[in-house]
Amino acid sequence: MERSRRWLVQLIIVVVYLLSSSYLVLSLQCSNYYYSEKCTLRNLQINSSDLGSLKFPVHSYIELENVQVDYLSPQVVLRMKWVSNLTITNGEVSYIFLKNDLLELVATSSKTQDVIIVEAENKDLEKMDITHNLLRSIPKNIGFLKALTTLKLSSNRIETVDLGQLHGLDNLTHIDLSSNRIYYIVPTTTLELSRLESLSLNSNFLTEIDFDGWIVPRLRLLHIAGNSLTFVRNFNGKVFPSIEEYYDANNIFDCRWRTEFVSQLMEWTKFKNSYLSAECSKGVRLSSANYRELNISDIRKYSFDFDNKEELQKQIDSMIDTEQKHSQHIESLKSSLQDKTDKLELVSSKFLTQQSRIDELLVQVERLAREMANVKQMLLPVAPQTVTKGLREKLIHEVVDVIRKNLAEQ
Ligand SMILES: *[C@@H]1O[C@H](CO)[C@@H](O)[C@H](O)[C@H]1NC(C)=O
Ligand SMILES: *[C@@H]1O[C@H](CO)[C@@H](O)[C@H](O)[C@H]1NC(C)=O
Ligand SMILES: *[C@@H]1O[C@H](CO)[C@@H](O)[C@H](O)[C@H]1NC(C)=O
Ligand SMILES: *[C@@H]1O[C@H](CO)[C@@H](O)[C@H](O)[C@H]1NC(C)=O
Repeated sequence: MERSRRWLVQLIIVVVYLLSSSYLVLSLQCSNYYYSEKCTLRNLQINSSDLGSLKFPVHSYIELENVQVDYLSPQVVLRMKWVSNLTITNGEVSYIFLKNDLLELVATSSKTQDVIIVEAENKDLEKMDITHNLLRSIPKNIGFLKALTTLKLSSNRIETVDLGQLHGLDNLTHIDLSSNRIYYIVPTTTLELSRLESLSLNSNFLTEIDFDGWIVPRLRLLHIAGNSLTFVRNFNGKVFPSIEEYYDANNIFDCRWRTEFVSQLMEWTKFKNSYLSAECSKGVRLSSANYRELNISDIRKYSFDFDNKEELQKQIDSMIDTEQKHSQHIESLKSSLQDKTDKLELVSSKFLTQQSRIDELLVQVERLAREMANVKQMLLPVAPQTVTKGLREKLIHEVVDVIRKNLAEQ
């Protein structure tokens, strides 16, 4: 009875398990109608090390909305056999393995940290759009994506870029790296992008940019606004023969350079419709290391005008003052530290003497214990070797008595 009940319970568990896993298969159905251009799958949780019976719908365009997966791994994308366009929105997809026959990969606001691209020529992917995510650099091996036309990596956390990674991507027409934290562009001897039409580096932390070695014969749009640029090097008609729209507002260009640059640009006939402000700042600013930490309004606030001697003197005085305050503070911290160290040493030496006293006491206690043991040994009752006084007299008396009796009988 008991046994068959247990058996029944096990059977129920197995049935429930089977139902739940088949439910998983059934649940991966598009939220929109089957005839829709794309198939949206919402609120999925995928465990990349335990895929179970995960199956994606047979569809060429899948959108994963609010999906959670630590790694959209090779094993996961293998199960998306039919997918050629993949879009990921919201949710949390930390790492994405690039499926080798995708035409388009779009990921936005999905906490993506990297896209893993295999080291092999890829002639399929045309568009990569990873925006509002957590990328720290342009994905490695991007140079293998020979068919790439559009690369959008705006609103990530990219700090340095090596545009040389893109050298020779002959179909690349649009690059958007805006709203990152780019403060450094790794210099390359040549950067040829024969079909590039637009490049945006808006809203970054660049302090200078040098177009030496760039071969971009078709570039029409160049946006470098909202940086911390003090000057632009090698910007001329030879490098940019097709430029139509150039936008560099909200930088902190050096006046000594800016005025001539603007008057030069105004002579280019292609710039007829472009408005170029002559806005600039006098003087030199903080070291480039500081730019990364500060935004433009901060930088403006802290920049000095080297022509204004009085202002400069004030700045220096205030810096010296701050420096003194800091060093006073450091001194007081030092002396307080010294104080604490002394106290600690005192306490620890007291502790040491106490410790040695305790050790001494322990030795004494041990000795006492040994002595006690000796004393106890001595106090143990020993076999009587002498007869008590009264008994002896009694015995003597009795013996005398017996002798006396014997004598009388004789
Ligand atoms: C994913 O699956 C593995 C293997 O079954 C398991 O050990 C792990 O706890 C799972 N992780 C989560 C987050 O469920
Ligand atoms: C799939 O991606 C390619 C390349 O970006 C694009 O041309 C095509 O229109 C996309 N298909 C759909 C259905 O959006
Ligand atoms: C580059 O674009 C051209 C014309 O659009 C196309 O014929 C060629 O196949 C593309 N190259 C690659 C590697 O996809
Ligand atoms: C830049 O700094 C100013 C002043 O410190 C602040 O008001 C502003 O919100 C900051 N902007 C950004 C985008 O951090």
